[in-house]
Amino acid sequence: MITHILGALLACCASVSSTPMQARQDILIANFEGKDYGNWRTSGDAFGTSPAHGTLPGQMNVSGYRGSGLVNSYLNGDGSTGTLTSPPFKIERHFISFLIGGGKDLEKTCLNLLIDGKIVRQATGPNDKPGGSEALKALAWDVTEVEGKTAVIQIVDRATGGWGHINVDEIIQTDKKPPMKLKNVSHEWILEKSYLNLPIKDGAEKRKATFHVEGQEPQSFEIELADGEPDWWAFIDTGRFKGRKATLTVDELPEDSIALKQITQSNQIVDSADLYHEALRPQFHFSPRRGWTNDPNGLVFYKGEYHLFFQHNPYGWSWGNMHWGHAVSTDLVHWKELPVALFPDQHGTMFSGSAVVDWNNTSGFQTGEEKALVAMFTAAGTPFTQGLAYSNDRGRTWTKYTGNPVLPHIAAENRDPKVIWHAPSHNWVMALYLDGSDYALFSSTDLKHWKRICDVALPGASECPEFFEIAVDGHPDTKRWVFYGANGKYLVGTFDGTTFKPETEPLTLHHGNCWYASQTYTDIPAKDGRRILIPWGTMATPGMPFNQMMGIPVNLTLHNTPEGPRLSANPVLELHSLRTKTHKVAPQNLLLGSNPLANVSGELLDIELKLSLGDSKGIDMNVRGISISFDPAANEIVCNGNKAPLHSINGHIQLRILVDRTSIDIFGNEGTLYMPIGVIVPHDNKSLSLTSKSGTAKIDDLTIHELRSSWK
Ligand code: FRU
Repeated sequence: MITHILGALLACCASVSSTPMQARQDILIANFEGKDYGNWRTSGDAFGTSPAHGTLPGQMNVSGYRGSGLVNSYLNGDGSTGTLTSPPFKIERHFISFLIGGGKDLEKTCLNLLIDGKIVRQATGPNDKPGGSEALKALAWDVTEVEGKTAVIQIVDRATGGWGHINVDEIIQTDKKPPMKLKNVSHEWILEKSYLNLPIKDGAEKRKATFHVEGQEPQSFEIELADGEPDWWAFIDTGRFKGRKATLTVDELPEDSIALKQITQSNQIVDSADLYHEALRPQFHFSPRRGWTNDPNGLVFYKGEYHLFFQHNPYGWSWGNMHWGHAVSTDLVHWKELPVALFPDQHGTMFSGSAVVDWNNTSGFQTGEEKALVAMFTAAGTPFTQGLAYSNDRGRTWTKYTGNPVLPHIAAENRDPKVIWHAPSHNWVMALYLDGSDYALFSSTDLKHWKRICDVALPGASECPEFFEIAVDGHPDTKRWVFYGANGKYLVGTFDGTTFKPETEPLTLHHGNCWYASQTYTDIPAKDGRRILIPWGTMATPGMPFNQMMGIPVNLTLHNTPEGPRLSANPVLELHSLRTKTHKVAPQNLLLGSNPLANVSGELLDIELKLSLGDSKGIDMNVRGISISFDPAANEIVCNGNKAPLHSINGHIQLRILVDRTSIDIFGNEGTLYMPIGVIVPHDNKSLSLTSKSGTAKIDDLTIHELRSSWK
């Protein structure tokens, strides 16, 4: 049943014409696809000399434009101003349609139609407060009453503050009456199946939707609903609500949209016959079934299960609508995705955070036999605050603490609380990102009341703090504390329960191109004792119904080196369980033109190599079309253009290389080099080669394991 709650609103500014439509062809005024603005004139510095190509530096993701060019006056940021004016043209159709986004100010960020120097029609973007969206939307003016007149179009940016810019594209004269936009259109279902499937068109206008199941809090989100043919299907988990009435309300739905009619209930996600085997689906890196992921969140181990929560947009291919997605694994290799754990609430969307087992029920959240799992997250509202949620059923369902926020706003976009138990002081300790490269530590006895105990400056880093104690060279009685930020810059030092004292400069944990916002597991049993880290694998998967992945879990260790203490990272041993066929290559000399790997091929690979460099001037490896080379003189490894230092040790190097569909993870010299590389590995190339550029190196040990997919 479809009801139009608030009646119809035309996207145009003026009233709708009643003139019968004539079949005259559209006239393109401008689509901004050229190398410059052609005979449009600019003033000021906001428009530059040529159209933009999408998002400009420092801008949120711009979407909804057509082709590759558009007008985007964010050039040089919001501070720049100017105008862009068309040459005079004759109005020869009933409507002028266009795509528009950016600031909402009829005087300062607008699109004007002028006749004889007077503004006769106007439009703006939709944004007049922080947040918002850079998506362009289709609007149109009814110009029937001024047909035949000569006009100019002027794009104006006179604003310098927030949302002080305007985006425009695809200006067309047309006789086709633009579809009316309907306000708050609703559709109702009695829920009978596991999923409600939503058709998505990437880059379509973002509309506000509200999903309401009887007896539950309504959930609002933005969604690029497909009015026609979808690119892919997102879903809402409805299994828990069978028999209840649900309503989805969508704002600004074009009158001819078939979006709501396309939504179906099913026990399978629509188009999921190839789930986990799609062309760019990582085969041993976790990724969500549908939608976007970024940071891993709430990494906690409880009763044999590794929980992996993750920043998740369940309804879009790009970042947005932050929820906490959830997956569990008993071996860090095979993951089972569970329903969304944390939904946005009145305090904001769910940004990153951590989770702990409250063994001693310090929070009082535990109700039964199971220990309470407690998650601490950022609610990204206005302003950002920190809140708690808890689960008394091994993470299957979550309840928000009614006393949220437990930490009010402190600074800027303060966020990403990482909580640990500090046994010696019998306190919870939380690391929080404040602003710039400033962080702080807090302590609490009950997870609900927090006291600021120490500030930490970590130059070169921001966001997502991680803080833990780790043995030096594996000695349980020599320990140090590590503090790191989202990009992996880390400090090693001491912590007495109150003050963290760094003993090093900021150091570099990894040399990859697809690593960010990692976290390590809490509550790993002492007899295991590992410090297991999972990063966000920042790697786009274009054309897929999901986007981005997690990096492979690695075990961190801290070692004394002549330069001071340094972290190493090695893939967790559990990954060995994916090994199927093993090729052992006999020790042999490596010469120019030789290829001891000519007979080995495979898709998913785990390569172990030990080399004596001899007098070789360079080692060249090619893994399924991706080059990895080592330069002994420079002590440098290069993978697909990404460089990292790797020092040979007494003329030897050791490498471990894991090859998945969208990444090559390289570990050098027992994990002193940690280099995850995001790259789309050519599907049809399964070949391998290894050679010495000139001079002779020697293979001491070379084993290649073919791997099976971790998805059953
Ligand atoms: C890091 C980050 C966090 C934030 C989250 C939002 O990638 O920006 O600081 O909590 O992503 O998705």
